[in-house]
Amino acid sequence: MLKFVILLSAVACALGATVPEGLLPQLDGRIVGGTATTISSFPWQISLQRSGSHSCGGSIYSANIIVTAAHCLQSVSASSLKVRAGSTYWNSGGTLVSVSAFKNNENYNANTMVNDIAVIRLASSLSLSSTIKAIGLASSAPANGAAASVSGWGTQSYGSSSIPTTLQYVNVNIVGRTQCASSSYGYGSEIRSSMICAAASGKDACQGDSGGPLVSGGVLVGVVSWGYGCAYSNYPGVYADVAALRSWVVSAAGSV
Ligand code: ARG
Repeated sequence: MLKFVILLSAVACALGATVPEGLLPQLDGRIVGGTATTISSFPWQISLQRSGSHSCGGSIYSANIIVTAAHCLQSVSASSLKVRAGSTYWNSGGTLVSVSAFKNNENYNANTMVNDIAVIRLASSLSLSSTIKAIGLASSAPANGAAASVSGWGTQSYGSSSIPTTLQYVNVNIVGRTQCASSSYGYGSEIRSSMICAAASGKDACQGDSGGPLVSGGVLVGVVSWGYGCAYSNYPGVYADVAALRSWVVSAAGSV
């Protein structure tokens, strides 16, 4: 049975990775409760494309640096990647730029999902505008219960094989690390110090949102990382904790 669990985990994230070992994904997920929006409301959002298809989200850190999840960049070459910025639609509009290099956090672990963060260097600089804007990094973790929003082109129900073309978002509340690891939820010790959670009834990020932005108080507080199913009440969405990983991002952005 354990092997079966791990095997299923490996395919749980249709467009990327995964849930940490030992968590069995359920196949009857529900709508993640999103609302269609436009890029003007989330101008830091980008679509990371692999061989021409949307694969993950990401956030604009500067005119030529994107922050995303390390699990989005496993076994890929920079030449197969492109970034679309400045568009409400993942498959048209805005600007589509090539990737010259990327760097995964050296301490990312695909089994535990710790340190699930990466930076990408664009081959040409974005020209910043009302639809293409950088977002600052949180310097302290948001408080438990703080309002936040997460956006992306990920699936609208767990297990779905199609993604929306129009950018979606949901409002959620931060679930602090301590609370997320407590017996109030199902994760326990799977929640590590580089992670933070967020949840709202019937609302969550899902497959294809990975790497994308969780924003609170106007700064990037999380990077979509993993979850057990999507929008299951006992299982908040789990994010890389940007405040905890901030110094890594700043230095990697300067060296990638
Ligand atoms: N690992 C997924 C991806 O690669 C993201 C899963 C987020 N899940 C959640 N319930 N918040 O797209």
